[in-house]
Amino acid sequence: MCGIIGYVGKDEAVPILIKGLTRLEYRGYDSAGVAVLDGNVMRRLKTAGKIKRLSDCLKKTSINGTLGIAHTRWATHGIPNNINAHPHYDCTGAIALVHNGIIENCDELKAQLKKEGHKFLSETDTEVLPHLIEKYYKGNLEAAVRRALKNAHGSYAIAVIHTNEPDKLVGAKCGSPLIVGVGKGENFLASDCPAILDKTRKVIFVEDREVIALTKDSIEISDLNGKRVNRKPTAIEWDISQAEKGGFAHFMLKEIYEQPRVIHKILSARTNVRKGQVKVDGINLTPKQLLKFDNIIISACGTAYHAGLIGEYLIEKFARIPVEVDVSSEFRYRSPILDKRTLFIAVSQSGETADTLAALREAKKNGAKVVSICNVAGSTITRESDGVIYTYAGPEIGVASTKAYTAQVATFILLALYLGGIKGLLGRRQMKNLLNEFEMIPEHMDEILDEAEAIKNCAKKYSKLSCFMYIARGVNFPNALEGALKLKEISYIHAEGYGAGEMKHGPIALIEENMAVVAIAPQAPTYEKMLSNIREIRAREGKIIAIVSEGDSSIKKHVSTTLYVPKTQEVLSPLLTVLPLQLLAYHVAVARGRDVDQPRNLAKSVTVE
Ligand code: AGP
Repeated sequence: MCGIIGYVGKDEAVPILIKGLTRLEYRGYDSAGVAVLDGNVMRRLKTAGKIKRLSDCLKKTSINGTLGIAHTRWATHGIPNNINAHPHYDCTGAIALVHNGIIENCDELKAQLKKEGHKFLSETDTEVLPHLIEKYYKGNLEAAVRRALKNAHGSYAIAVIHTNEPDKLVGAKCGSPLIVGVGKGENFLASDCPAILDKTRKVIFVEDREVIALTKDSIEISDLNGKRVNRKPTAIEWDISQAEKGGFAHFMLKEIYEQPRVIHKILSARTNVRKGQVKVDGINLTPKQLLKFDNIIISACGTAYHAGLIGEYLIEKFARIPVEVDVSSEFRYRSPILDKRTLFIAVSQSGETADTLAALREAKKNGAKVVSICNVAGSTITRESDGVIYTYAGPEIGVASTKAYTAQVATFILLALYLGGIKGLLGRRQMKNLLNEFEMIPEHMDEILDEAEAIKNCAKKYSKLSCFMYIARGVNFPNALEGALKLKEISYIHAEGYGAGEMKHGPIALIEENMAVVAIAPQAPTYEKMLSNIREIRAREGKIIAIVSEGDSSIKKHVSTTLYVPKTQEVLSPLLTVLPLQLLAYHVAVARGRDVDQPRNLAKSVTVE
């Protein structure tokens, strides 16, 4: 969602701000803007549409200055247009502010401010903030920001500047991410590390209800009462090149191809295959503590939720612990039953998803131990968890999650094996066998990627259809949901995933010539049942794309297209069957001319409810 970057230093702000915004493009947005101070003169430019448009407009006007803020907006209140784009001004134009989040009491605040004579130009919730700051401003920007924020309810990360203080950049956060980039003779504010990584690797993670005052040579952190906070910077380990396309047409494609390396990395970090051992470093719970939990609740959104569903199958299979998986956006609204005997697992690539964070807080409030499976070190979810199992996927930029998903699935497989091991349900020999097969997964993934041309051809063949259905059984059922989500996200084709056994209970009525059914049917005990489902669809003249194990020659006569994945144990198969699904979605979207990395209406990290 919205991206923020702020700069104070000795160089011209605009090129730094635009470059930073471009590196935040992946977050999803529909308009962009910038405000820069040149001495006491404020200049602002904002446009609906892509950053390219803003930067083309900037070429025609000279906006100079070494202090500035910039923003990409993902519309919540008011349509994406020039007026609603950020930065927003107060009545005098002395204050410029950008915001990520939602001010929930904006109507009430706006009504009060209007009574006091403030004039509003936009439909946004954000615009109340510069006006509130104007109201409280008495010569010190951070003091006014503190007073304003004490009146605002909801979530925010903000960056703000004032013409009276032309060397100061102020930021604050509550619920939405904000970091400080620590430079030499320059400092930065940003929503996420990629925006500033080419300038500095030293980052301070801002905590909720903290206010930051930056000059080019100083950083002051305080709470909303003005009490000073000391925090040391963290060194970011990954490189900016990891967040670049590296010769691939899209980030999504690059990230699909990175999956064998990601799985290899996870296995190297967490297993000793020879000894049949699995480590879950970071979980912060001893085996004795883990054995005391009565149940596990997994909560996540979107793709991470699908990984959680696979986690449920595997933990119940190997560790015999009851598991429940909840969509985070529903979790806290359904009076969940949990207490200190519950282990709550939050799954999130970004670690910033507002709903997952809220579910985690609800679980903590009820006394549960909270462990997160997360990809981004230092993110809010990791900071609020009692333990963190990192997924080691590296930065994921494409809005459609791919490598983060397989990393989450691989992590769940290992967690399930670990829990099964400490419960004494999995012997060393069985563990070794599974890990030996697991070790082959990166190679198998490479084999699928080497045959990607077949998937591309299949995508071309079916790209004009208006509807796709994905079916599977057992541990591959969540992949049916994931395949459908991938396709709808980036190609905008209607797609749904079902447990194949559900077909007769309704969805089979949809079979017709404009629909394709993707049947995920690798070698598994449910294979025969899948075959029956496939036959039933065929009998109704449905077009079927089957994803099956190598060597399966019997399926061909029942389906329109067959895609093969190498043979492996059923519990590991989702790591393979998902690759054709990702590539199918990718190539269909490309064939339809879609913006694969930044699909319409979507944001990479969903930081509002
Ligand atoms: C994945 O392709 C989606 N863009 C989306 O469903 C995503 O998985 C979801 O928003 C959760 O994000 P998180 O993993 O960062 O919490």
